[in-house]
Amino acid sequence: VKHLLGIKYLNENDIQLIFETADHFKEVINRSIKKVPSLRDITIANIFFENSTRTKLSFELAEKRLSADVINFSAAQSSVKKGETLIDTVNNILSMKVDMVVMRHPNPGAGIFLSKHVNASIVNAGDGAHEHPTQALLDSYSIREKLGDVAGKNVVIVGDILHSRVALSNIFALKLQGANVKVCGPKTLLPKHIESLGVEVETDLRKALNWCDVANMLRIQNERLDISYFPTTREYTQQFGVNKKLLNSLDKEIVIMHPGPINRGVEITSDVADSKQSIILNQVENGVAIRMAVIYLLASKIK
Ligand code: CP
Repeated sequence: VKHLLGIKYLNENDIQLIFETADHFKEVINRSIKKVPSLRDITIANIFFENSTRTKLSFELAEKRLSADVINFSAAQSSVKKGETLIDTVNNILSMKVDMVVMRHPNPGAGIFLSKHVNASIVNAGDGAHEHPTQALLDSYSIREKLGDVAGKNVVIVGDILHSRVALSNIFALKLQGANVKVCGPKTLLPKHIESLGVEVETDLRKALNWCDVANMLRIQNERLDISYFPTTREYTQQFGVNKKLLNSLDKEIVIMHPGPINRGVEITSDVADSKQSIILNQVENGVAIRMAVIYLLASKIK
């Protein structure tokens, strides 16, 4: 496999290989050996057509820790603003002897499209409301680290499932590994045929939380939202927001996840996000090892 375009194109063995490789890199990082010489002859371009904090910095750090040469491209400060196409932009970057492109783009399928038109390894860092494969990998990896395994665990994904690439990639990854998955959110923010992906819908948040081992709380994707389909923020928080009182009233102690960025006080309160039950910053930490693993494994195909 030359690209990572979505979890949809992986199998369980691929995921286990990525996790075992990430285990190795995490151990290396934890021994304070922050840099390995593995990819000294590889050049990677991170091209971002959408805003990012975690994914962009995490990929850049992962690439630098593998000793790759790195260039960063932000569409907002580029000749895209003068009308240059995606293919022309990427082919110009590749002509500078770049081997791999990590791309975030607002259009679903942008990475797949690019992979068919340019000669480089493409890593999808989030394509619109479609997929965010490295986020799903780091999420599953964090569940495995916290609970020992993903298989057999009950995971509920709460919030704006309709517009969330994190939700779709997580559903694919969790189902491949044998987790039980439910989604919970307002009916207007659930895709019509979500059950066809092997997940159950639960619109009662308390029931969903009492069922699960892990709750992955999503942000409302205001940037992709048709406002007429949406409850007000206050209504959303009342029905689907998690606060400490609700968490403490559950039958058991569950694990709280969030891909970030958090809208504090909307989908979760600060006393939940910053609680002992939250593994939100562990997810971010694990993102670097996961991205090192993905880049290392893909680079082995192009070296
Ligand atoms: N989780 C995530 O994709 O965050 P960023 O948008 O900040 O990269």
